[in-house]
Amino acid sequence: MPPSRVRLVEVGPRDGLQNEPNAVSVADRVRLIEALAEAGLPAIEAGSFVSPKWVPQMAGTDQVLAALPARPGVSFPVLVPNLKGLDAALAAGAREIACFGAASESFSQKNINCSVAESLERFAAVTEAALKAGLRVRGYVSCVIDCPYEGPIQPARVAEVAQAMFDLGCYEISLGDTIGTGTPGRARAMVEAVAGRVPIERLAAHFHDTYGQALANLYAVMEAGIATIDASISGLGGCPYARGAAGNVATEDVLYMLDGLGIETGVDMDRLLAAGRLIGAVLGRPPASKVGRALAPM
Ligand code: HMG
Ligand code: MG
Repeated sequence: MPPSRVRLVEVGPRDGLQNEPNAVSVADRVRLIEALAEAGLPAIEAGSFVSPKWVPQMAGTDQVLAALPARPGVSFPVLVPNLKGLDAALAAGAREIACFGAASESFSQKNINCSVAESLERFAAVTEAALKAGLRVRGYVSCVIDCPYEGPIQPARVAEVAQAMFDLGCYEISLGDTIGTGTPGRARAMVEAVAGRVPIERLAAHFHDTYGQALANLYAVMEAGIATIDASISGLGGCPYARGAAGNVATEDVLYMLDGLGIETGVDMDRLLAAGRLIGAVLGRPPASKVGRALAPM
């Protein structure tokens, strides 16, 4: 049985915009995040404190955080790969960070320039310092189904890395089908393997839609007990270190499915569509979300 309530985590302003060929201005990123908060999303990733040489699109995340008024009940997590990033996030007033690891060695090297074991050592230091400073820490595991360099990843390996990050003190582990190759049976088997090590209510699904399977995969993992879903407004995004990765599943499309199933989210479709139109106007293209196109004003 799918859950009666789902928490939607909006990742468009980070996962989406990090992959745009042209950087979006701080002012437009702030407008987008504000519009998403107006739609009722309880968590909106606001950016990353990573090397601007690696991901120039996320430069200025400190200014984005500074410009966002506090909103009770809404969190604005930011990605942090190391202690340097944590220092910058703390200086900018971040209240929640996300460490991002991978279940694949090659992807870890390409994405954060270190092995999985080294990344876990870094995250241990980052998590310890962040928790001491009163922040919440989320954890990502990428390549939970396939790796763009290594092919299929064993669910047992995903479970091992997820548990390691959970044991460091992450309150939630988001499972990334980074290149969107998953199908419902594999997605569910992976989640069940991870749920043997980390309580399922502490797991989130972060599915990219490269092969058009994301909604089916989400339904399959909701049946296994997943009740937190990452999604990206208008299906923005991809991953700069995963060739061919399309955007995350579109928030509008996920909301349409959840509304249709009678699953509560607290998110308002009309306002969400407005946020999609806003970023579409900035980027100069129509929304990639099917629902956004179907419900566009004539
Ligand atoms: P490195 O080159 O090994 O780092 O990069 P380093 O420690 O050797 O430092 C090299 C330079 O980077 C130095 O500057 C540092 O100061 C600087 P220089 O002396 O050359 O001028 N530096 C930093 N600058 C700003 N912020 C920092 C920082 N750290 C070092 N935090 C590093 C290692 C991790 C920094 C780099 O590989 C990096 O920034 N990677 C980020 C990649 C990224 O953002 N990928 C996208 C997000 S992950 C994703 O999308 C997947 C996800 O959505 C889930 C899914 O879909 O699966 C989460
Ligand atoms: Mg992603």
